[in-house]
Amino acid sequence: MLVNLKEALKGVAKSDFAIPGFNVFGYEDAVAVVRAAEELDAPVILMTNKVAVNHMPIEILAKILCAVAEDAKVPVCVHLDHATEFEVVARAIKAGYTSVMYDGSQLPFEENIKNTREIVRLAHACNVSVEAEIGAVGYSDPSLKVKARYTEPEEAKIFAEKTGVDALAVAIGTLHRMETQDAVIQYDRLEAIEKLTDVPLVIHGSTGVKDEDLKKLSRYNVAKVNIGTALRMVFGNTMREEMNKNPNEFDRIVLFQKPMVEVQKEAKKKMELLGIGKK
Ligand code: G3H
Ligand code: ZN
Repeated sequence: MLVNLKEALKGVAKSDFAIPGFNVFGYEDAVAVVRAAEELDAPVILMTNKVAVNHMPIEILAKILCAVAEDAKVPVCVHLDHATEFEVVARAIKAGYTSVMYDGSQLPFEENIKNTREIVRLAHACNVSVEAEIGAVGYSDPSLKVKARYTEPEEAKIFAEKTGVDALAVAIGTLHRMETQDAVIQYDRLEAIEKLTDVPLVIHGSTGVKDEDLKKLSRYNVAKVNIGTALRMVFGNTMREEMNKNPNEFDRIVLFQKPMVEVQKEAKKKMELLGIGKK
């Protein structure tokens, strides 16, 4: 069942669990993630990032992901991740995405507010949810030159009030694309943010979050936890093993089977750590 982010996150912020947003790049990982969610009878978010959009037109991605979502036995949100251009957001909404993230984190505060408000106006008119970012979650690769900045609690409050976003990404110690679980979470900062705003919070770069922190974060107002690299590593590394084990196999559908099973297992593991599937 295809839902928007607001519907997927209903009641999640104040609960003792959180919903993962997984970056997916095509049919195989999208289906594997949805199978994991179905095993746990839990909602899930399929996310499209810039790399995916550069590889496949967003209109085609939308058709694949929305069809997978509509076919699912659980609520599935189809979300555009880290969009920095108005035009890409508009195309995603037109193509059927039920949620968009506008990422103005590299812009001055007032400009981020102004642009996010415009996106919220457009998206809400189409029943599409909006996530935005305040502070800036950096990248583990310094050559990407993204300016990282921790979220100031007072800014989070003002930003949430002025924009009317459905979810807010905050920078509290994580970094994108970490390959090990070494992030140091600033719980004091998270608590200070929560004291000032009730908006459901989003943690990016959660591949780098330790298992015990995933469990702990889900008990805060954290509603959405973004995970990308962990699934990419499982898919790619399993694929390499399969190719090494079967050097004469050239049929991609055969080679995709084991990576799909392993992605499903990894997605299920992360969901269980986030407290879903307790039943
Ligand atoms: O927006 C996407 C996420 O923040 C994924 O981050 O690849 O480090 O898990 P990650
Ligand atoms: Zn992110």
